[in-house]
Amino acid sequence: MLSPGVPVTSKILYGGDYNPEQWPRDVWEADYAAFGKAAIDTVTLGVFAWSYLQPDEETYDFDRLDAIVQRAVDGGKQVVLATATGAMPPWLAHRYPEVCRTDFEGRRHVYGQRHNHCPSSPAFRRLSVALAERIAERYAGTPGLVAWHVGNEYGGACYCNLCAAGFRDWLRARYGTLERLNDAWNATFWSHLFTDWEQVVPPNALSEHWRGPDHTAFQGITLDYLRFMSEAMLANYRDEKAAIRRHDPATPVTTNFMGLFRPIDYHRWAADLDFASWDNYPPGPREHARMALAHDLMRGLKDGQPFWVMEQTPTITASRDVNPVKRPGVLRLWSWQAVAHGADAVLYFQMRQSKGACEKYHGAVLDHAGRTDTRAFREVATLGAELGALGGAVLGARTPARVALLFDWDSWWAAEITDGFNRHVKYPAVVLGYYRALWQAGAQVDVVPVTADLSRYDVVVAPALHVVKGDVAARLEDVVARGGSVLASFWSGRVDEDDNAFLADVPGPLAPLLGLRVEETDSAAPGVVNPVTLRVPDAGGAGGSEQVDPDPVVSDAELVFEVVVPQGAEVVGTYGAEFYAGTPAVTRHRPHGGDGGEAWYVATGLDDTGLAWVVRHLLGRHGLVGPYAAYDDVELAVRERPGADGGVERTAFVLNHRLDAVDVPAHAAGVDLLTGRRVAAGETLHLEPTDVVVLRED
Ligand code: GAL
Repeated sequence: MLSPGVPVTSKILYGGDYNPEQWPRDVWEADYAAFGKAAIDTVTLGVFAWSYLQPDEETYDFDRLDAIVQRAVDGGKQVVLATATGAMPPWLAHRYPEVCRTDFEGRRHVYGQRHNHCPSSPAFRRLSVALAERIAERYAGTPGLVAWHVGNEYGGACYCNLCAAGFRDWLRARYGTLERLNDAWNATFWSHLFTDWEQVVPPNALSEHWRGPDHTAFQGITLDYLRFMSEAMLANYRDEKAAIRRHDPATPVTTNFMGLFRPIDYHRWAADLDFASWDNYPPGPREHARMALAHDLMRGLKDGQPFWVMEQTPTITASRDVNPVKRPGVLRLWSWQAVAHGADAVLYFQMRQSKGACEKYHGAVLDHAGRTDTRAFREVATLGAELGALGGAVLGARTPARVALLFDWDSWWAAEITDGFNRHVKYPAVVLGYYRALWQAGAQVDVVPVTADLSRYDVVVAPALHVVKGDVAARLEDVVARGGSVLASFWSGRVDEDDNAFLADVPGPLAPLLGLRVEETDSAAPGVVNPVTLRVPDAGGAGGSEQVDPDPVVSDAELVFEVVVPQGAEVVGTYGAEFYAGTPAVTRHRPHGGDGGEAWYVATGLDDTGLAWVVRHLLGRHGLVGPYAAYDDVELAVRERPGADGGVERTAFVLNHRLDAVDVPAHAAGVDLLTGRRVAAGETLHLEPTDVVVLRED
């Protein structure tokens, strides 16, 4: 069946998780009155409802959920209905201890917490599907039912005997023979030749790992276990989705992802979701580039289709050591940023604050007293009114990205579990460094899997592409062959899909494209810098580099320093220290001559200054440096959709993430959809901190 796609709505949905089972009915009435004041139109119900829906294995009781759903329907709300399997009921663990996970240290857990079922447990699979089935049967066709929400935030890992058996089955299906398995795992190393599938055990603290989860003797085994675990949980999701589909063929189904989340390969899950959704809880108050990256990654899961922000907090989180409130205007700014990157829904966790347990202080639209005269509520209501006024103005739009950034869970896993090099290097941090440079330069970026069609992009950035698999090397060569630009970084082209090193010069299959070989890889502790001097070899020669400072730039590189031997590439940057001082740290290869495409390589951990210089040079070749690139932390995000008369309707979001006000010359003429004000091209836009302009361009 064709995926129904993202829910069709008339506006950006607004609301969030609502758990009224925690308080009496009269409070529900106060809640709905408040929702009306804040233009809340959507509620997500039943995420943690299992224990009251099914008090024991034989009994289902829908009275409470019936009332909760009915109240939402009576209130004219759109309903996102959960399958209620995000947390297990106590009886389930008591009757079937196998549903509890065995942790990395081999300890079988007992009942508690949530998001912690064993994905291989037959009891869990049977009973979660039975619950999803009954819920779907009962509530399919509910007026306003806009989406199904399976489980909640899948993640973690289990190492029990059931998972061990599941792992062996998965390996049999993947490799077919033990010979192939032994080859993939390079099992002759440390005498690991397996002669019976039953000899295979999960890689954990009792087997292949020591000194923590990232330190494994056999990366191939651990990498496969990560893949297996991600797919075992995908099987759980699929089971529940199939149960829904038996009763409701059309309503879109999703589960809430977590952005840059290591345990689950979201690319491998994407095809099973009708639309992507994710929970946006940035780790700090100044994470605008990271949030933009996560939005773009989520949008990239479904080939640019809009996604939802399923959760964000209106005020504070409760799970961190220190939980600062969102400053005035920040909620609005971050919400518009999500819309600017393609969110068709902006939802909260949670509508009313939990009464007890670990999230009783987590922020909510309504606090324990249910007040609507708080700053938080006022900001929620202001945003609700704005989203209402915007209506459907940007629904169905796409981001017109000419730049792709490759994101790859296999590379993430393989690079971080490998011994050697430098454990301080973290894949998401490397990716974020490159993304931030693109973001600051105002590029519209698609964050895509390595299997994506690259033919629509002028610039393709591949940070730390540790694993080179499939035909990605050839497709990157194609980008350059047709005049495009490729930017790759250190740690790329090291291993194949099995995590075995290429028996060739580094960077393996990427070497012809990049025109170099890496001879050594030096590492240093954080804070130890090697200054890299960057200079365009023939400034102006490669066309359109006018936006780039022609003077040399010095970047403080750290952590990784590859010693590069050019084999056709030109030197762009050189190390300033160590025995490799004066040798290339950044290179450019033009395999098709001076007028052809360019393949750049950054062999070290350049700082933001260096990355900005490199990235702007590449973007400059294609005229892709944005109009606000000179203003730090002023973001431009563009959405386009077909307009009247066969034209294109462009909406530009200008977002001030700075802590101070800034004046910028408007990049285009249009109307600010939030204020109705006409803006002339070049007119000064005065942006206070957190200000947002939604410019419908003429
Ligand atoms: C999410 C989760 C919600 C709630 C929220 C609090 O990760 O899905 O149920 O716990 O965090 O921040």
